[in-house]
Amino acid sequence: MKLLHTPEGVRDIYDCEYQNKLKIEDVLHSMFLSYGYRDIQTPTFEYFDVFSKDIGTTPSKDLYKFNDRDGATLVLRPDFTPSIARCAAKYYMEDDSVLRFTYKGNTFSQTSELQGKLKETTQMGVEMIGDDSVESDSEIIELAIESLKNSGLKDFCITIGHVGYFRGICEELSFSMDVENTLREYVTNKKFFEAENYLNEMGVSDASIEKIMSFDDLLGSVEILDVAYELAGNDVSRNAVVRLKKLYEILKSKNLDKYMKFDLSMLNKYHYYTGVVFKAYTYGVGDCVAKGGRYDNLLSQFGKDAASVGFVIVIDDLMQALGRQDCDNYNDYLTIALTKGRLASKTLEMLETIGFGCEEMKDKDTRKLIFVNEELKLRFFLSKGPDVPTYVEYGAADIGVVGEDTIREEGRRVYEVLDLGFGKCRMCVCGPASAGELLKHHEMIRVCTKYPNMAKEYFYEKKHQTVELIKLNGSVELGPIVELGDVIVDIVETGSTLRENGLTVLEEICPLSARMIVNQVSMQMKADRIKDMIRKLKEKLNENC
Ligand code: PRP
Repeated sequence: MKLLHTPEGVRDIYDCEYQNKLKIEDVLHSMFLSYGYRDIQTPTFEYFDVFSKDIGTTPSKDLYKFNDRDGATLVLRPDFTPSIARCAAKYYMEDDSVLRFTYKGNTFSQTSELQGKLKETTQMGVEMIGDDSVESDSEIIELAIESLKNSGLKDFCITIGHVGYFRGICEELSFSMDVENTLREYVTNKKFFEAENYLNEMGVSDASIEKIMSFDDLLGSVEILDVAYELAGNDVSRNAVVRLKKLYEILKSKNLDKYMKFDLSMLNKYHYYTGVVFKAYTYGVGDCVAKGGRYDNLLSQFGKDAASVGFVIVIDDLMQALGRQDCDNYNDYLTIALTKGRLASKTLEMLETIGFGCEEMKDKDTRKLIFVNEELKLRFFLSKGPDVPTYVEYGAADIGVVGEDTIREEGRRVYEVLDLGFGKCRMCVCGPASAGELLKHHEMIRVCTKYPNMAKEYFYEKKHQTVELIKLNGSVELGPIVELGDVIVDIVETGSTLRENGLTVLEEICPLSARMIVNQVSMQMKADRIKDMIRKLKEKLNENC
């Protein structure tokens, strides 16, 4: 008989692991109760409207949607907060007292296949409804810290931001909503070089560009708040900083300041947040283990005006972090993943000029996989391009250097912090000159490529041409030559491979270059060392210009 396995992204949990999970849940539950939070349960699925675009939660394509018998669209909850808001608005409409709820349950989101992420995760959290004071922000953050400590987590930090600061600056600079939204993406991903290019193209003044670029430095200890205050020329942003300072003072008086960091470029992906936002980072998972913030307008979408604040702990991630915190010996090192081949040599040359070299790597005959500069506590390894963003997303490498093509194709969650300016090439549609005609009439054509995601985006989103994509793993030029396909989507550097095989560039998709990427947790936990490296690289790049 064939034994059935669970679908990709969901799993059975049993025996010791489950006992362990229950124990952690018990500890957290007791903590939440001791702070006066009361249990609440909402259904596993809701009407689509509860999680629609207007609410500002998970993107629609990531939701599990289905219909009931009457044709209404239902959604498996991706997040608890909108459900609790709906429930509180309905049952406590006339109640003006401060409400404290705690919940536990599973959430569902359709992450991409084979990215190693669970599609069903257990979350536990709290929501405080009907209080807009800074004391309520501090209670929530204190509870998050105490809960993580009590679960056994040792080395972690809480990074705090405020969405009002960025919003105020955008208003001050008279940016339209479209510009603000585009910038929010860049700032959240710490892709400041692209924000600069974008604003330059829009013809924005140098002073405004400089202001947006300063967000890059608004990450660190409490001192950055003074810098942020000076920088802001508007009340919304200044009030946001004043609020964060008050919050810091309260938490400091409780000896919790050692856990706190600030990052004013942290803008939560859930758009319902209106004020303070925070994330808890630790080693071992590559992502935050808890997140939360203030959402003062969400309940009004369900009919009740009530300022609210809350947070959630992702139990599965917390368990992973707890399981790995005593066995990771490399937290003192900065680990750098390089793309094998030309990019690695160029990167090493550049790193050497700013004092981050590695003698061991110069031995061409070595079979070693990891190279160490013990003095500077640096570790390097070489890997195939598509694996570099994977190592960085999981935190197996703090930093990676890889082609932009690979970053686009892999779609991993990493910070893309620098355009290194080398490894320049173009992503193009190529083929025999005769194939040019096929691209003009939206005909069905066969496209061979190592980059199916980029090819799909180009043909479907930009050209609106239906194509049959054939994934190849190398020497893609062979495709049209042996008539496997009509054209290829591939990178062109010197153009010699095309020339020698009787092919030509038919359409250019985009220019590409090498990028430096950084893991989200490393950016917080190893901020000083990483920022120092980025700063030195930037100086070098400016010299070269
Ligand atoms: C890349 C790309 C092209 C070639 C373009 O292949 O896929 O084939 O380089 O460079 P050129 O314009 O300078 O000729 P790569 O060498 O990475 O190997 P692959 O073909 O096995 O993917």
